[in-house]
Amino acid sequence: MPAYSRPMAKPSPRFVCQSCGAVTGKWAGKCETCGEWNTIAEEPAESRPGGSTARRPGTKLALESLSGTAEPPARRMTGIGELDRVLGGGLVAASAVLVGGDPGIGKSTLLLQATASLAQAGHRVLYISGEESVDQIRLRARRLGLHEAPVELAAAINVRDIVAALESERDLAMVVIDSIQTMWLDSVESAPGTVTQVRAAGFELIRLAKQRGFCLVLVGHVTKEGTLAGPRVLEHMVDAVLHFEGDRGHQFRILRGAKNRFGATDEIGVFEMTDRGLAEVANPSALFLAERRGHIAGSAVFAGLEGTRPVLLEVQALLSNNAGGSPRRSVVGWDGGRLSMLLAVLEARCDMRLSGSDVYLNVAGGLRITEPAADLAVAAALCSAATGRPTDAGSVYFGEVGLSGEVRQVAQADARLKEAQKLGFDRAVLPRRVARGSRAAAVDGLVLDEIGHLSDLVQKFAV
Ligand code: TYD
Ligand code: MG
Repeated sequence: MPAYSRPMAKPSPRFVCQSCGAVTGKWAGKCETCGEWNTIAEEPAESRPGGSTARRPGTKLALESLSGTAEPPARRMTGIGELDRVLGGGLVAASAVLVGGDPGIGKSTLLLQATASLAQAGHRVLYISGEESVDQIRLRARRLGLHEAPVELAAAINVRDIVAALESERDLAMVVIDSIQTMWLDSVESAPGTVTQVRAAGFELIRLAKQRGFCLVLVGHVTKEGTLAGPRVLEHMVDAVLHFEGDRGHQFRILRGAKNRFGATDEIGVFEMTDRGLAEVANPSALFLAERRGHIAGSAVFAGLEGTRPVLLEVQALLSNNAGGSPRRSVVGWDGGRLSMLLAVLEARCDMRLSGSDVYLNVAGGLRITEPAADLAVAAALCSAATGRPTDAGSVYFGEVGLSGEVRQVAQADARLKEAQKLGFDRAVLPRRVARGSRAAAVDGLVLDEIGHLSDLVQKFAV
């Protein structure tokens, strides 16, 4: 017998970033892959699904030609128009959708309403909750007036039980799992909510959806930084990722497509949280402009575009004298870097003095603008705040601003103009047309104020 017997091979520890799923051999305060702090945690080594590592010879793949015919995927409308639009025209059979959002934003409410609507249309739907008891879900349904809908409920967290229940089903249209962070697969040692569990449970459920032909909707909670923590590892496994966002202080909620294998990703759905659940908002512009007060310096209306849909939003700017030190730039709902650029262009190309002022910019209503087309509206709000002269209450603004102060064309000018006209605006300040062509007839009656350079806009505010 040797002097030192070899100990049993101990599995080496494994550290997994709970935000992005990166695996390292040792603990670190910061994840090298995604740059997040304090997200690395030790997790036991993953056991292989099926438990066996024995190799089997592969079956030869049947290869097919690219030119073959392909049917469009079968779809089912949930009956909730705003949701169907973001999905690209309803739920796709045998697909998986991840719905992410802050806790309390209304994910469970939205999906209970969607399942009820689909069930009332005669489809079989299942709602499986790992967060609430069946009684709690019933109570919510009663409050929403949906308790008569033939939705089948279960409160469960064990993925093996769920798989056993679904495996023999053939005619399911939709299965909701609320939420993926509560799901637990007993072959994986980590706790529910860890990246390893979320990935393994997600994999099992998605595989089942593809095999059984139902649409799987996974609910995922996000961290306050706005990323799908944990569920982020699911993003590449699912067919569509929808973000449900909104400000707790406001009643409206936005459903936004972040990924969609079966449709466009830039569509949004707008809802309003009422005491009877989520109501669809048919005219978002009216909602976002509802609290606007005319003739206040520092406010301008932006004719924006969310997906294919035009949306009017109010941009507000406030300037105050900086009492020494470096001036503050505070932005809500827009990009801070873009604001700095615009301030620099106003100074350098239009002779405006702004470097001595603190600048506050806010997109009213809590929506986030990502389009560069907002440049002109932001510039108008800034000019108005700087001069104390209100913008014309009947005007909308859109256009991108370049570094030399030139105002550039943006996509879908006609759609923006039509929306402005529909909401009673009578004037639009927009980029000068490069190619001469007629605007759509629908914008008749709207005065078009085409400008080529940012200084043309600044001039409008000169006394
Ligand atoms: P919920 O759907 O439970 O959020 P999530 O699943 O994203 O965590 O929504 C919870 C919030 O919605 C809660 O604060 C109460 C509010 N709410 C209403 O205002 N009206 C309603 O009819 C319902 C059901 C919820
Ligand atoms: Mg919930």
